[in-house]
Amino acid sequence: MADAGTMDGCGFLVRMRGLRYEPLGRAVLDGIDLELGDEGITMLLGPNGAGKSVLLRTLCGLIEPTGGRIDWGEGVWRECGGVRMVFQHPMLLRTTVLENVAVSLKPLRIRAAERRRRALAVLERVGLGSRAQEAAMRLSGGEQQRLALARAWLVRPRLLLLDEPTASLDPSATAEVERIVREMRTDGTRVLMATHNLGQATRLGDDVVFMSAGRVCEHASVQRFFSRPASPQARLFIQGELPWRMSF
Ligand SMILES: Nc1ncnc2c1ncn2[C@@H]1O[C@H](COP(=O)(O)OP(=O)(O)OP(=O)(O)O)[C@@H](O)[C@H]1O
Ligand SMILES: [Mg+2]
Repeated sequence: MADAGTMDGCGFLVRMRGLRYEPLGRAVLDGIDLELGDEGITMLLGPNGAGKSVLLRTLCGLIEPTGGRIDWGEGVWRECGGVRMVFQHPMLLRTTVLENVAVSLKPLRIRAAERRRRALAVLERVGLGSRAQEAAMRLSGGEQQRLALARAWLVRPRLLLLDEPTASLDPSATAEVERIVREMRTDGTRVLMATHNLGQATRLGDDVVFMSAGRVCEHASVQRFFSRPASPQARLFIQGELPWRMSF
C-alpha cells in the first residue's frame, strides 16, 4: 500500500515494490519494482494500455494500489510542494491566469498580495507574465499547458509527474514545455514523464523506464535504452512493431 511514512534516507526519492493494481481482478499494474533516485528526468515509455497513466496516478495518490508498497525518501511529503501531477489536458479554474497559479499557495496561509507576487514571477518564467489578467480558458492548448506547469512550479515540487503533457501540442509549444521542464529540474524538481514521443525522450531524459502489460520491463539510461535495449518488448517498441498489450 502507499506508505508515505516509510523512509530510510538512502538516496532514493521513491521506491516501489511489488506494486499492484487489479480492479475487477485484472492486473493493470502487475507487480511494479522500481526505484527513482533524487535527481533527474525519467521518461516513462510503453505502448498504449501499458499502465503508464495508472502508475503516475498511483504515485500522486489518485489511485489506491491493491497490493505492494511505495516507500518515499526522507522529507518528500513534508516539503512544501510534495508531489504534483500535470495531465495531457490541464485542469483549469474558470478564472484568470494569475488566480489559476496563485491558488497553489492558498493552503500555506500566505497573504493574498504575496501570493499574487510569487504567481506573477513564475508566470514570467513560463512566458505568460503579460497574460496574467486574461481568462485562463481562452488560452491556447500550449499556453494552458505552460500555465499548468507554472502552477506546479510555484510550489517547487519534490517530484513532478507529467502524463503526456505535449501530446496535442505543435513543435514550438512542445519545445517551450521541454524548456520549462528542464528549468524545473535545474531548480531541484525530480521529473517522471510519460510520453510517446521518442525524440522527446532522447532530448529530455536522463533515463528511461519502459513498461509493457503492467510491468516494468527495463530501466536504463537513455543512451543504453535506445542503442542497446535489453528486453525483447523494448526492441519491438523502438522498431514500432510491438503488438498492443502483448504479453511475454
Ligand atoms: N481507474 C482505472 N480503473 C480500472 N482500470 C483502469 C483505470 N485506468 C486505466 N485502466 C485500465 O488500465 C490499463 C492501462 O491504462 P493506462 O491508462 O495506464 O495506459 P497507458 O500506458 O497510460 O496508455 P496510453 O499510452 O494509451 O496513455 C488500460 O487497460 C485501462 O483501461
Ligand atoms: Mg496514458
